[in-house]
Amino acid sequence: METVLSGIRSTGNLHLGNYYGALRNFIKMQEEYQCFFFIADYHSLTTHPNPHEMHGNVRNVLTEYLAAGIDPDKATIYVQSDVPEIPELYLLLNMHAYLGELSKTASFKEKARKQPENVNAGLLTYPTLMAADILIHNAHKVPVGKDQEQHLEMTRKFARRFNNFYQVEYFREPAAFNFGEDLLKIPGLDGSGKMGKSEGNCVFLADDAKTIEKKVKRALTDAGPTTPNSTKPDYIENLFTILKVVSTPEVVTHFEEKWNTCDIRYGDLKKQLAEDIIRATSPIRERIIDIQNNEAYLAKVTKEGAEKARISAAKTLREVREIMGFKKF
Ligand code: TRP
Repeated sequence: METVLSGIRSTGNLHLGNYYGALRNFIKMQEEYQCFFFIADYHSLTTHPNPHEMHGNVRNVLTEYLAAGIDPDKATIYVQSDVPEIPELYLLLNMHAYLGELSKTASFKEKARKQPENVNAGLLTYPTLMAADILIHNAHKVPVGKDQEQHLEMTRKFARRFNNFYQVEYFREPAAFNFGEDLLKIPGLDGSGKMGKSEGNCVFLADDAKTIEKKVKRALTDAGPTTPNSTKPDYIENLFTILKVVSTPEVVTHFEEKWNTCDIRYGDLKKQLAEDIIRATSPIRERIIDIQNNEAYLAKVTKEGAEKARISAAKTLREVREIMGFKKF
């Protein structure tokens, strides 16, 4: 069976956009592929997070992915720092990663601009760490967004280079993966393009009903249409886009008609939208509450995940070390 690997940032709460944009595909993917999902806590160190927040961040992300439907019996879910084979492979791969190419990476240049006081070597070698994440399982496929395509391209380059240098056909060149239907893009509530992390623009999976109602109520609207069948401004179109995802076709048609006849009442639209978002997210929210303080469950999941991941990782590392000429006395 082909392996799919995805790294998950260890900061930030999941919002509707994450769920419909990627997570729902992960949940389907685990039925058809051997999936590795891991929380990239080492990667987060490049921006020097507060040590007191590290564990909580990992725990949040883990909890939310499990609550949304990542199933540890189907996929291997683990924390990056629980698998010491990854940093070891990173060290080895760094010997074949060059300053010129690393410093030209778009993400490095952007970070160097944003944090000029902290242009550390971890930031420079971020693509090597990501390559180690992927190559440690010799993964076939990696679901990545636009912003990560260059990193995946570099992973392929590192794999090719290793094979050429040591005259082996060892590493596979991982492919970008678009699973299932096209990913849905969930717009923000503030009329801006995408739902992002910023408050006010976004509904988190962990938000309670009151918070969701408040956020939807605050969404940008106007005085309403005055010409029948007119084109909707972006911020109204956005509300309809979300409605199409969380509501029934009948509900959508109802409000489309109201729009077209200029009878639309945004208060009604928002009430319905909030209600349907709450219906879609509340089972996940309930599971989040269930899981987040279940120490024993989280400990079991991460322990078993790391054990499974380390079997595949140790095999790769053993073979790589042998190829590179390491031998035991
Ligand atoms: N860099 C990815 C991001 O910012 C996270 C990540 C780390 C990752 N290692 C990975 C993604 C390996 C895919 C494969 O989203």
